[in-house]
Amino acid sequence: MGHQIRVEVNGTAYEREVEPRLLLVHFLREELGLTGTNVGCETSLCGACTVHVDGVAVKSCTQLAVQADGASIRTIEGMADGDSLHPLQQAFWDEHGLQCGYCTPGMVMAGAKLLESNPDPDEGAIRTALKGNLCRCTGYHTIVRAVRRAAEGGS
Ligand code: FES
Ligand code: FES
Repeated sequence: MGHQIRVEVNGTAYEREVEPRLLLVHFLREELGLTGTNVGCETSLCGACTVHVDGVAVKSCTQLAVQADGASIRTIEGMADGDSLHPLQQAFWDEHGLQCGYCTPGMVMAGAKLLESNPDPDEGAIRTALKGNLCRCTGYHTIVRAVRRAAEGGS
């Protein structure tokens, strides 16, 4: 039997009936069609599924959709402002902070949350903040540079 939940995602209110076992990441992707949030491991290891739930960076494979009832959620689709990329997205572009791009939505969401709490992080702080997000392509250097570039105002 389903449970009725209400959430706000990227400023839009949704009400859906969901199975109690449905993970938040699958709710976002399959119920709301927000496929920018990726599924990697489904075991809380890779960070590809990172979103913001009530202002906290959360691996959305670690939370049930029913646990998000009443929450305000931001996904990668909510980062850009129309055609203008979020400054951190732009910095990833400028610093070539991605190759296959699979980890990128989670990296951006985790990195944006870091910059909110620490607008001028050094390399160590960036690496610590992103340690829950895995990338199989870049070796992380360009990702770290992208976060630094965003902190410096994209110059
Ligand atoms: S899919 Fe959630 S941490 Fe890997
Ligand atoms: S860019 Fe491919 S996993 Fe990070």
